[in-house]
Amino acid sequence: MNYPERYLITAALPYANGPLHIGHIAGAYLPADIYVRFLRLKRKDVKFICGSDEHGVPITIRAKKEGITPQQVVDKYHNIIKTSFEKFGILFDNYSRTSHQIHHKTAQEFFKTLFDKKVFTEEFTEQYFDISANQFLADRYIVGECPKCSNPNAFGDQCEKCGTSLSPEELIHPKSTLSGEKPVKKKTKNWFLPLDKMQPGIEQFIRSHENDWKTNVMGQCLSWLKEGLKPRAMTRDLDWGVKLPDGLEGSEGKVLYVWFDAPIGYISATKEILEKNWEKYWKDKNSKIVHFIGKDNIVFHCIIFPAMLMAHGEFNVPDNVPANEFLNLEGEKISTSRNWAVWLHEYLEDFPEKEDELRYVLCSIAPETKDSEFTWKDFQARVNNELVAILGNYVNRVMVLCWKYFEGRVPENNSTESFSATFGELNTHIRNIENLIYKFHFREALGEFLNIVRMGNKHLTVAEPWKNSNIQEVGKVLNMHVQLIAKIGVICAPFLPFSSKKIFEMLNLNHGELTWDPASTQDLISAGSQLNKPKILFPKIEDADMEKQITKLHLSKKSNEKNPSQEVPVLNASGPEQALISFADFSKLEIRIGKIISAQKVEKADKLLKLEVDIGSEKRTVVSGIAAFYKPEEVVGQLVSILVNLAPRKIMGIQSQGMILMAENDKNELAFLAPAKNFEAGGKIS
Ligand code: MF3
Ligand code: ZN
Repeated sequence: MNYPERYLITAALPYANGPLHIGHIAGAYLPADIYVRFLRLKRKDVKFICGSDEHGVPITIRAKKEGITPQQVVDKYHNIIKTSFEKFGILFDNYSRTSHQIHHKTAQEFFKTLFDKKVFTEEFTEQYFDISANQFLADRYIVGECPKCSNPNAFGDQCEKCGTSLSPEELIHPKSTLSGEKPVKKKTKNWFLPLDKMQPGIEQFIRSHENDWKTNVMGQCLSWLKEGLKPRAMTRDLDWGVKLPDGLEGSEGKVLYVWFDAPIGYISATKEILEKNWEKYWKDKNSKIVHFIGKDNIVFHCIIFPAMLMAHGEFNVPDNVPANEFLNLEGEKISTSRNWAVWLHEYLEDFPEKEDELRYVLCSIAPETKDSEFTWKDFQARVNNELVAILGNYVNRVMVLCWKYFEGRVPENNSTESFSATFGELNTHIRNIENLIYKFHFREALGEFLNIVRMGNKHLTVAEPWKNSNIQEVGKVLNMHVQLIAKIGVICAPFLPFSSKKIFEMLNLNHGELTWDPASTQDLISAGSQLNKPKILFPKIEDADMEKQITKLHLSKKSNEKNPSQEVPVLNASGPEQALISFADFSKLEIRIGKIISAQKVEKADKLLKLEVDIGSEKRTVVSGIAAFYKPEEVVGQLVSILVNLAPRKIMGIQSQGMILMAENDKNELAFLAPAKNFEAGGKIS
C-alpha cells in the first residue's frame, strides 16, 4: 500500500467550558497522538492541529452557571486544557484558540467567500425567543422532548441520549434553559447552508470512502443521507461568537454558528504557525487531511464541514474521519454535570510520572468500534499484569543480566546465529503494527506490540543464560536481547513516549533521532557500548491507590447531587473548623429556589441591590450586597437559592425579607447558587 508523504492531522477542538476527562482522551486525542507520532517516526511531513473551541452556547451557559463572564470561562479552561495536554504528552504543532484574531478573520473570510458565491440561502424564519431573557433560543438554550426517543431533556441542537441531531422546532414542549419558560416565536433573518441541494456532491464524496472509513462512521453518514439532508442555519442571533463579516445587510446582533466557525479553526491554526506555507497542507493534492473526533461530532466533520469546503472550492476535503464511540466509567456514562468523570488534570496530579500507564490502558480499551468501559480495577490489572509484569520485567531482566555478567557493557555476538533467525516472528509483528496503525486499529496494534515483548521474555526464559558457563554464549544471547529492547524502545514510542525515552536512556542511546525502521537488520546499539544502570519502568499500582480513586469518584458525585450548581453553598462558613451542627439545626433553615424578577440600585449604597424575588408562593423584597459584582439588568431572570425564614430586617430603610445565598472564593469572587437544570421558583432545597 502506498501512503502519501504529507498529512494534516486534527483532533476535535475541545469546548473551553470544562476540563478534559478520560473519555475525551480515549475518544480523540490519544489515537490522534499515536497516529501522529507514528507518522513522524516514518519521517512523514505532518502537522498536528488542535485548539480550544471558545464560542457557542456551551460557553455562555457555563459562564452563567459559574457566575462569571464567557471570556473568564474560556481563559480559565483554555489554560487548564492546554497544560494537561502538554503534560500528558499530546504534542500538537499548534494548540490554538478560536478567540485569536487570525481565526475571526479566517472564519469571516470563509463566510464571505460562500456569501459572494451565493451558496447561502437567506431566510426569514420564526425562531424561538425568550421574552424575559430577551434572547433567541438556539442550540443549548432550549430543551424539550426528543421526537425520536422521548428523552425529556433533549437540546435544541442534539439529543444526547439517542444522538439525533435536532433543530429547536422539532422539540416537543420546548422550554428556555435561561428562564424555564415556554418560548414565543419571533421572526429573524439567517443564512442557511442548503445541504438538501448539496446532497448529491456530499453523497458522492462519502460513498467514495466506503472501503476506507470505519464502519461506525460510515453507518452514521449513510443514515443521515438516507433521511435526506436539510438546510442548516450558519448564523445565530447571539452575541458571543465570531461576528458576521462587515457590510452584510441585517447582520447586526448575529454571529457565525459555532459549528461553522470551529472547524475553520483547523485552518486558522495551521495558518497561524505556517504563514505562507500553510496552503500545501490544505490544498495540495498530495496532502491528506485526517480528523480525529468522538462520535457526537461525526455529522459535522463528515457532512457539514466537507460541504463548506466543497462550496468554497479551494480546499481538499478530509480523507478520513476516524471517530471513536464513547467511553463509560465504572458502569455509568461519563457526565460533566454530574461530576462522574476522571479528569485528566487530576489524574496527572494524583499519579505523577504515570502518563504512560493511562495512555496504555486508554489505548487498550479505546472505544474504537463500540462503547467501552474504564474501571479503576481494570486499570490496575492492566498496568500490573501487562506493563509491570511483561514490559517492565523484560527490560529489567535484560539490563540486570548485562550488568551482572558484563559490567553494563553490550556484549559481542560472535556467533553465526543471527538476530533475525532467533526472533523470526518479529518482522511479522512489526508489519502488523504498521498496517493496524494505518487502519486506525490502535488497540490491536498495541496488542501486537505486547506480543513482541512476550516473545522476548519467552526466549530469555528458554535460553537461560544465567545457567550457561560459556561466557561467549551468554554474551551472544544478551546482545540479541539488548538489540530487541532497543527495537522495543522504538516500537513503543507512539504509544508510550515517556517509557520509550526511559528505555533509550537506560541504553544510553540518543532518543532524538528515532526513526521507524525497527525491521531493519542493522543493530541499533553496538557491542562494547556502555549501558546506564537499570531503572524500574513501571512501579506496581497498589490497591490503596485504587480505593482512593473509587471513593473520590463517588464522593464527588454525591456532593454534586446535593448541590446541583456544582458550587458548595457557603452559609457564612468561616472554615473547616466550624462547630458541627445537628440535623435539627440544619432543618430550621428554609431554603428555596427563587427567581429574580426585578432589580434596582439602592440609593446611596453602592454595594446594595434591591431585588424582587419570586419564591413560588409569593414575591419577596430582598436587599442584597452584590451590586459591586452584578448590574441590575444582569440578574433579572437569574435563579437563586434564597433563605426565606430569616427574620426580616430593615436595610437602608427597606424591609428585607430573606437572604440570597452566594458562593464566595478566596479571591472574593461571587457566584449565584442556581440549580443545574431548569427549575421552578419555589423548589425546596434540602
Ligand atoms: N467543541 C466541539 C466538541 O467538543 C468540537 C469542535 S470540533 C471542530 O464537541 F471541528 F469544530 F473544531
Ligand atoms: Zn433522543
